[in-house]
Amino acid sequence: MSHPSITDTSGLDLAAIRKQFPILSEKVHDRPLVFLDSAASAQKPDAVINAMVHTMHHQYANIHRGLYWLSERATEAYEAVRDQVAGFLNAPSREEIVFTGNSTEAINLVAYSFGSLLTPGQAVVISEMEHHANLVPWQMLRDRMGIELRIAPITDAGDLDMDAFSQLLSDGKVALVAITHMSNVLGTITPARQIADMAHAAGALVLFDGSQAVVHHRTDVQALGADFYTFTGHKLYGPTGIGVLWARRALLEDMPPFMGGGDMISTVTFEKSTWANVPHKFEAGTPAIVEAIGLGAAIEWVEKFGFDAIAAHEQALTSYALQRLATVPGLNVVGHPKERGGVISFTMADVHPHDIATLLDRNGIAVRAGHHCAEPLMRRLGLTATARASFGIYTVQEEIDALADTLVRIREFFV
Ligand code: ALA
Repeated sequence: MSHPSITDTSGLDLAAIRKQFPILSEKVHDRPLVFLDSAASAQKPDAVINAMVHTMHHQYANIHRGLYWLSERATEAYEAVRDQVAGFLNAPSREEIVFTGNSTEAINLVAYSFGSLLTPGQAVVISEMEHHANLVPWQMLRDRMGIELRIAPITDAGDLDMDAFSQLLSDGKVALVAITHMSNVLGTITPARQIADMAHAAGALVLFDGSQAVVHHRTDVQALGADFYTFTGHKLYGPTGIGVLWARRALLEDMPPFMGGGDMISTVTFEKSTWANVPHKFEAGTPAIVEAIGLGAAIEWVEKFGFDAIAAHEQALTSYALQRLATVPGLNVVGHPKERGGVISFTMADVHPHDIATLLDRNGIAVRAGHHCAEPLMRRLGLTATARASFGIYTVQEEIDALADTLVRIREFFV
């Protein structure tokens, strides 16, 4: 097979988009790369690569410290991304944007800092479909602070069980609901506004792990009724090492610092220190300057296409993929949620998911296989692993065809 030809599904010029991703012209095992693991980490367009290289060539210095031209330029470029992220999330204020290393760090920040304000007897609710990043920090908080950790079940289809969720809120002890906005395993898009309204009615705050969701549709933290929202740059076509915590300003003001060090202080003596204003109180040490600028370039690049077109493309691809995969003998798609994004987990009778991934790779096709950092969800589903195909803005129907056709051949080989 040569590199895939393009069937347009959305009004996006997919051929032109693909040309902006240098890696998509690579060959793997002598086959054209078919990259179907964007949920793990998306590929990077020239716009992001060039912005980072340009920064290092022309305007790199440490920020917030230097009283010289180069440092001022770097500071401006870094702080401009805070404005961009505020716009991207429709946050009421740029001071509510905290840069972190990734979504995992953002959730750990909330668990450590907001969590330290909780008292024994209070509870945090998560769901059965959480990534370990939105599970383990709450277990650590439970063990440190003596709070209760409650797990909201999912239905067999892979939706949040709203009746059971409501029950978990009913005693008024829940301080925080922390739930994925889109499952990295099932593709489920959770009913965020309804979850937020229910949490608030029960006196709880709500955090959404938006690591997957921000890539697929427009995110408006005010319309969602969120109190905390986290995402990571590298799934949004940006670099690794940069993530975002958005939180309502009053919450950030009340929360103690997460890490101590330079840049997060106002004054320091040997006896005591006082803290910088938000968001800097939460950004200790030299931050990921170049990576933040790369994230800004990624946001600008994505916003050029608009989330209506991105979401339409993804919905068309996902429907097409579900139809095509249904024709593969022995293949079972895991989860049929009411609303879903472009992440499809599957198993195939007689073939272990790791063998599926290895044999697909021999054909140049990259998918993820394993527990997808969601071991308790796998147990809930009665599985140890799945294979998972996930799509990005550059994914085309012809790549889904390559996946389905190759899966048919793999299955024939095993039976
Ligand atoms: N959270 C990433 C995934 O789902 C790594 O693959």
